Amino acid sequence: MSGIILKVSIGLNKQIICVIIIGGKPIEMEQLMETRIVHINNEIEFHEDELKDAGKIIGSGGLVAFPTETVYGIGANALDEVAISKIYIAKGRPSDNPLIMHIADVDWLAEYVTDISDKALSLIEAFWPGPLTMVFKKSEKVSYSLTGGLETVAVRMPNHPIARRIIKEANVPVAAPSANLSGKPSPTRGQHVIDDLSGRVDMIVDGGKSELGLESTVLDVTGDIPCILRPGSITRSMIADIVGEVSFDDHLSDESLVPKSPGMKYKHYAPKGQLSIVSGEIEEKVIEYINLTGQKLIKEGYKVGVITPEHAKGEFHLSIVESIGHVDNPTEIGSNLFKILRKMDDNQVNYIFSFEFKGEEVTVAIMNRLIKAAGHLIIEV
Ligand code: TXA
Ligand code: MG
Repeated sequence: MSGIILKVSIGLNKQIICVIIIGGKPIEMEQLMETRIVHINNEIEFHEDELKDAGKIIGSGGLVAFPTETVYGIGANALDEVAISKIYIAKGRPSDNPLIMHIADVDWLAEYVTDISDKALSLIEAFWPGPLTMVFKKSEKVSYSLTGGLETVAVRMPNHPIARRIIKEANVPVAAPSANLSGKPSPTRGQHVIDDLSGRVDMIVDGGKSELGLESTVLDVTGDIPCILRPGSITRSMIADIVGEVSFDDHLSDESLVPKSPGMKYKHYAPKGQLSIVSGEIEEKVIEYINLTGQKLIKEGYKVGVITPEHAKGEFHLSIVESIGHVDNPTEIGSNLFKILRKMDDNQVNYIFSFEFKGEEVTVAIMNRLIKAAGHLIIEV
């Protein structure tokens, strides 16, 4: 096994010193870098040089955080085991969690995977570039440090012009987990990445707001029937329209089963305050419960926040009232969720109540993330 972190300590200049075993040999690495921050809020044509530099940094073993249409990613050369280890150190996350390989062109795929089924080909045709990650059998070129020891590799071709350009410039496939510190929600704004990773990566490219705000759908296409391991914006019915039958990893509905997508087994981001989802058929009752319970907690000296749909935001008398968007616009809700969870932490809210969002399609992915953030605490009223 390679890429095992043996020891982490803090040096005299506050740098992170890490001893990693790679290919059986211990290697000492230091991390406290000056992070170059680039803001891109107009056409990428005006930023040719910076994007070329970003590609060069990745190509030569460094780390660059960049925007994608789902969430921001922290990118490294997916073929370089040392670079992959740097990702784990920068995020402070366990190294058995497999990473997604990001490619700039469909032509790159054949080198890194062994079987591409007809169904997978149709899905590529339909959804790439875009927010769909597919799990294939890996080729010999893919190291186990990327896959966390698995025989499969997850591949995605993002649709964001900055992401695609950086990967193209790097001219290697790019390993990119979400660009948050372990234990924080995925970043959906450049500022989130600057908050989490300044001093830990070589460059941060701020490209504004992530359009979708939820991580990509992860779909296992190694079997006859494609299986959703992580729900996202490419929904079950969108996939079924292309390939017919689609299954869901059972653990999504039954927590006692071992998940097939290793990243799903970690206790996912939970805000510092206690988040509960308030569920009920009658909206007035949900509002009444949140107001009464919230005001009681405020009297006891706590800070209380609510995550509400836009139409109900005027109903609350609590410390922090955050509208997540319109109920008929799940994409808007998805793009605001992680931003609001971060804001609750920033404001040191002790108790957070959220509405339950009902529906199919993207709402399934929204509720998947919200339920994890709430540690499955759902209050029926
Ligand atoms: O939208 C996204 O997918 C973002 C952007 C940056 O592309 N990336 C992202 O990466 O969310 P990360 O590392 O936070 O999540 C990767 C997910 C995890 O749940 C992991 O377990 C799963 O993909 N995964 C990776 N390789 C896998 C494999 N070989 N088999 C099953 N699941 C895999
Ligand atoms: Mg993540």
